Amino acid sequence: MKLDDGSVRIELLRPGHNRLAFTCGNSSLDRYIREQATQDMRRSVARVFVATLVDSPDHILGFYTLSAAWVTASELPPDVARRLPRHPIPAALIGRLAVDRNFARRGLGGILLADAIQKTMVASQIVAITVVIVDPLDDAAKAFYSSFGFRNLDGPQQRMFMTIAAGAARLGTRSGPA
Ligand SMILES: CC(C)(COP(=O)(O)OP(=O)(O)OC[C@H]1O[C@@H](n2cnc3c(N)ncnc32)[C@H](O)[C@@H]1OP(=O)(O)O)[C@@H](O)C(=O)NCCC(=O)NCCS
Repeated sequence: MKLDDGSVRIELLRPGHNRLAFTCGNSSLDRYIREQATQDMRRSVARVFVATLVDSPDHILGFYTLSAAWVTASELPPDVARRLPRHPIPAALIGRLAVDRNFARRGLGGILLADAIQKTMVASQIVAITVVIVDPLDDAAKAFYSSFGFRNLDGPQQRMFMTIAAGAARLGTRSGPA
């Protein structure tokens, strides 16, 4: 059964969250939330947001990270690049996103992704951001991001992107300065 948005809370990782019980099936992501996420937060390398159930606030069901990044116009497809300058394009990177395997295919990945895009749109009112980029780890992750409209970036890292404007259109909100 799909999870209902209202039953899920998304907040910054804090010491009370139980990071050790999280298992998504990808060992590097499990290790990340267990061993590195707190340090990344402390060093301001990434903001780590976790999803819990409203009535079980310490049990992590999923998480994502957000950091500032940039891409070059040459990595973007021509229909997007032609509207952009040649210098680096400001981006927000969803560096990691994972869902506990017990909650897979219940819509939580989509809830996390929408929240990350929403937060990026809010941040972009102050610091300009043109695109959201993601680092899919495998074909299943690519299929997941594609299902929300992410497109391939050119380049060796096999990243994907969505423009903030496309994200706003999907979420039914407006992008750009208020
Ligand atoms: C990829 C991942 C985040 C998806 O989370 P999820 O909560 O299961 O995804 P959702 O239920 O929101 O799925 C939304 C849509 O994405 C697509 N999708 C999700 N998982 C998929 C998979 N394994 N294969 C193909 N398509 C997939 C489907 O279209 C799905 O819609 P549907 O269930 O109605 O068919 C999760 O499987 C995961 O944590 N995987 C391991 C870590 C990882 O690869 N993270 C991404 C790279 S950092």
